[in-house]
Amino acid sequence: MKKVNEKMYYDQIKDWSFDEFQIETEDLTNWDMYEILKKVTDENSKILDLGTGGGEKVLSKFPSYAKEILGTDYSSAMIETANENLRKSGRTNVSFRIMNNLDMDVPENYYDVVVARNTVTDPKQIFKALKPGGVLLVHGVDMFDCLELKLIFGRGQAMDDKKPISIVDYENILNAGFNDVELVPIHQREYFKNKEILKRFLSKVPILDEFSEEEGDFKDFYSPSIEDDKLDEYIKRNTTEKGIRLYRRYYGISARK
Ligand SMILES: C[S@@+](CC[C@H](N)C(=O)[O-])C[C@H]1O[C@@H](n2cnc3c(N)ncnc32)[C@H](O)[C@@H]1O
Repeated sequence: MKKVNEKMYYDQIKDWSFDEFQIETEDLTNWDMYEILKKVTDENSKILDLGTGGGEKVLSKFPSYAKEILGTDYSSAMIETANENLRKSGRTNVSFRIMNNLDMDVPENYYDVVVARNTVTDPKQIFKALKPGGVLLVHGVDMFDCLELKLIFGRGQAMDDKKPISIVDYENILNAGFNDVELVPIHQREYFKNKEILKRFLSKVPILDEFSEEEGDFKDFYSPSIEDDKLDEYIKRNTTEKGIRLYRRYYGISARK
């Protein structure tokens, strides 16, 4: 069983690209963070993307017309990848740098929008960074994500949570002083072409990993290898015409300062 702390885990991954897995995604709900991002921004907008990974989403989905976009991540390996991706993209309104989301070092009342997709946040610090009227957009992985898979393996991310992470996040955002806070469930089906691709995907993402209980940045990740007999059982139950199906459960939150 491999055990590493959370930051080492991300340093080892180095990027957050899923192109190699050729995943086909079906949206079952219609909350689209990037559509909202488009609606709430214009050519004067300053946007901060927390936990940006290798900058994949910033460079492909964030508005090219925005005045200034900063992507931050506490993993130096992720920021190295993001800067490489930035060079290749030729974008001039984007920069990346290292920053811990739980110890934010950005000007106060500065950003029009803060985005946090599938990463940890401190809503009080985000509140300070936003201009009055500024918008927070959060996307996260919810408690019952890939539940059937986790039940077959008998382990997985957030499996033993007493309170769904979406509710914890929602309450923290309300308590930080935000207005117009909306929490929306996001359901998707993902399809994988074959077992080998699904297995490689599950080895990259923390879906079947277990975490120690510490709050904040000090969690340990336990990544047991993926047992073939259990994966075969899941595949037997979830093979469809489109491929091997995974049920994804996310949540979206929008809020205004
Ligand atoms: C699942 S990836 C999401 C990447 C990107 N936001 C996306 O949606 O593709 C989570 C990222 O958050 C970063 N991260 C986790 N905890 C963090 C923290 N306390 N401060 C800054 N970044 C953090 C990780 O290094 C990783 O790159």
